[in-house]
Amino acid sequence: MDKIRIIGGNPLNGEIIISGAKNAALPLMIASLLSEENLILENIPSLADVRQLKLILQNHGCEIEELASKDNNSGMKISFNNRNINNICAPYELVAKMRASFWVIGPLLARMGEARVSLPGGCAIGTRPVDFFLDGLRQLGAQIEIRDGYVLAKAPKGGLIGNRVRFPKISVGATHTIMMAAVLANGTTIIENAAKEPEVADLANCLVKMGAKISGINTHILTIEGVDKLSGTTHKTLPDRIESGTYLMAAAMSGGEILLKNTNSKYLETPINILRQNGVQISEEKDTIRIKANGAGLRPIDIETEEFPGFPTDLQAQYMALMTRSAGIAKIKETIFENRFMHVAELARFGANIKVKGQVATVYGVPILHGAQVMATDLRASVSLVIAALAARGETIISRIYHLDRGFERLEEKLTNCGAQVERIK
Ligand code: EPZ
Repeated sequence: MDKIRIIGGNPLNGEIIISGAKNAALPLMIASLLSEENLILENIPSLADVRQLKLILQNHGCEIEELASKDNNSGMKISFNNRNINNICAPYELVAKMRASFWVIGPLLARMGEARVSLPGGCAIGTRPVDFFLDGLRQLGAQIEIRDGYVLAKAPKGGLIGNRVRFPKISVGATHTIMMAAVLANGTTIIENAAKEPEVADLANCLVKMGAKISGINTHILTIEGVDKLSGTTHKTLPDRIESGTYLMAAAMSGGEILLKNTNSKYLETPINILRQNGVQISEEKDTIRIKANGAGLRPIDIETEEFPGFPTDLQAQYMALMTRSAGIAKIKETIFENRFMHVAELARFGANIKVKGQVATVYGVPILHGAQVMATDLRASVSLVIAALAARGETIISRIYHLDRGFERLEEKLTNCGAQVERIK
């Protein structure tokens, strides 16, 4: 299995082009199941999760064609055609590898009237149940049964029926799924307590281009008037705010000056505000963010993860890495997932001093981290180890980096171009 070797201590200087957002690309690709016509998606990142979802869509009969992109910096341009959906089953072998594949249940049910989708199971960051999805689909008239680890969902004879769906807690995946189910339902659906993450808005905007009637985009209440059919369209995936935030934290940790291109600071207001309080300089323009940092003596600032526009849980591990070298004590509270502190034990291998009690990690800043042999545990946890390694003295070897390949496109190349010493060992 591949490993990553990093020699720490170099400041980061240069430019990084931000990729399209993984967490927008995945639901957009799934939305292609809603139409018989071509959905052409631009700025799709080349990632393991995207490749996995292609397999899942192909299993349903989707025809996928990679088209020539305008340039190397605008991601992949891919056409998805679901004229002939010939299989409404998403099997365990495919769904177990990536939780987001469960979301196909929404469009399959809406368009085909039934779906058989494997339950995704738990994952490293928590139990992550699907009760909101199933309750929401029931509200739209679906009959749901769970048998042999699969959800069997059936729409009423005339199709799903619009209704009021209220989530007990904000869920990105349940919002994506119920929205995709409701666009082809009969009548109006109102989703209350909907997620308003930028990726949800990106999906909603794409669906509107396909002919869906959705209002309340970017708010916690989505109103969806069902239509008979959706058409094809071309849509550009929004930039990855988590990748952007990760490189901002890497630069804050290592020092130096980097310019992020093809990004958008409006999706990162809270983390940018925290980084400024930590003592780094950040300036924003239309689609760029510049960060200048001297890499030492950052002010510790407490954070709590929250739904958008709060501090994203997907940047919590990276921020913890940053705080390991702060000039004091920072408290980090994880409120979205119940088990998202697996990076703590690995960060300790660099010499970090972190105590966890329940959902709160207290990070006592130390002056120096030392390179170590560490193991990636989940996607964002893995990149927190990269951030620590970039600032640590000496050599770090990170194993199990397939987690990184799920969500960070050309990570070594992007960091190496900024002066970091990072190499992949095959
Ligand atoms: C999405 O996961 C993202 N994944 C996650 O990113 C992200 O961390 C998360 O949203 C929160 O922002 C993708 O977009 C592919 P949720 P999702 O449903 O939709 C509970 C990454 O690293 N819940 O918003 O699965 C759930 O257990 C990944 O890129 C229920 O209880 O997250 C959690 O505590 C990791 N029942 C909370 O809601 C349900 O039916 C929020 O989860 C659904 C969710």
